[in-house]
Parts: sequence; structure tokens; C-alpha cells
Amino acid sequence: MLIAGNWKMNLRYEDIINFKETLYDLNLDNRVEMAVFPQFPLLYYAKKYLLDCNIEVGAQTCSSELKGAYTGDVSVEVISDIGCKYCIVGHSERREFHNETNGFVKKASTLLLSKNIIPIICVGESKEIKIKKTTNQFIKSQIKECVPDNINSNLVIAYEPLWSIGTGIIPEYEEIFNVHNIIIKELSHIENLKVIYGGSVNMENCSKIFKLNNVHGALIGGSSLKFKDFLAIYKSAVKQII
Ligand code: 13P
Repeated sequence: MLIAGNWKMNLRYEDIINFKETLYDLNLDNRVEMAVFPQFPLLYYAKKYLLDCNIEVGAQTCSSELKGAYTGDVSVEVISDIGCKYCIVGHSERREFHNETNGFVKKASTLLLSKNIIPIICVGESKEIKIKKTTNQFIKSQIKECVPDNINSNLVIAYEPLWSIGTGIIPEYEEIFNVHNIIIKELSHIENLKVIYGGSVNMENCSKIFKLNNVHGALIGGSSLKFKDFLAIYKSAVKQII
């Protein structure tokens, strides 16, 4: 399982120090990985500072170009130099505010994989699509257009319904189960594929989500900023696999 904290544009240097302090009573279980995704300027520091905690540190996006005149962008090479295992691509906030299209996601994911970084590709339907009951087709086409061709391992898909992000509302557990099933079927050729759920995951709803046997973890926004909650969610995932 993978419990990932997407810190988005929150938290500062001192918070990473506080975060490490809250980890003292955490027994990391090697079947459940923990990863955090700080803002770019904090990445190098977070990676170094958390090195002895066995926690992965990843990036929130990357450029789809290898290098060159792309002011403000960050290359997969630098993310690789820092030692990140994961990079989120195509988060709905990046799709909305920074024009990360399916084509971008595919190109960036291909580059990431070439540097041995595992992409966490975000997919998910809008409220309109949910109301039209076309979620299944939409997810299938996102998967088809975002996942690089010819890959056979090392991929995480985060199912994040847009209407659930930051709203406190989650889908019916059965809906999560069904969409995860679709993703797993579409990508049955990928070894060690993980499909994780994101969207208003919290201490209250996480254990039911983790009980679904095709949920391989969570991508957590708001609750990952409250470190005690984040750790409680992690512990709930560990309980689930025992
Ligand atoms: P929330 O957990 O705040 O809903 O955010 C989910 C998310 O966007 C994680 O990437």
C-alpha cells in the first residue's frame, strides 16, 4: 500500500521539522509506504531531513520536456538528482490551472519512467460527468490517453473524483470499488500497478476505503497537513493488511 500526502502549496521549512518530530512514535510497516509531496523549493531539504525516517519524498509535477528554455519549469533530471521515487502528474489542479492535458501527462510520465521515477497519474471525473453517468467511459479514455505505451511496471494511478477534492464528500464505497476495477482491468498488463484513492480522505472514512480490496492506498490533501491525522490514516492502512 502507499499512503501519500500531497501537501500542495502549503507548509514551510519549519513544518518539515515538526513533521519529523511527529514521526517518533510511528512504527513504519514495510508493507505500507509513506510518501510526502512538498513544494519544489522544499524538496531537496525534505529528502535530506527525512532520510533516516524511511519516508519517500516526491514532486507534485514536472516538465514534459527534458531540458531547455522553459522558465519556471522543473525537469525530471533534477527531480531524479534529488532522489525522488515518485512524481504526481496530471493532478486536477494542474490540469485546471496549468493546462496539464492527457498528452502532457503521457509525455511527462514517459520521461519520468526513463529516469526510474514512478509517475502517480491522477484521473477522475467532474461533477457533470458523474451526473451524466459517463464516469466509466471517461476514466477509460483518460487512462488510454495518459498512460505511456509499452510500459509493463512501475505505475501508480490515483483515482481522484474532482467533486470530492477538498469538499469533504466522497463517493459511495461501491463507486470507488467499481472505478478501481475498471482501472485495474484497463492496465492488467502492468506488473505491480497500484491504484490509490484521493478526495477528502480523512481519519473517519479511511478504514472503510482501505477495506476495499482493490484500493492500494490513498493520495491525501487536507488531512496530510494535520500530521496526527495523517499518521492515524497511515496506521489505519497498516491495520487493514494485518
Ligand atoms: P483533499 O484530501 O484535500 O480532498 O485533496 C485530495 C487531493 O487533491 C490529493 O491530491
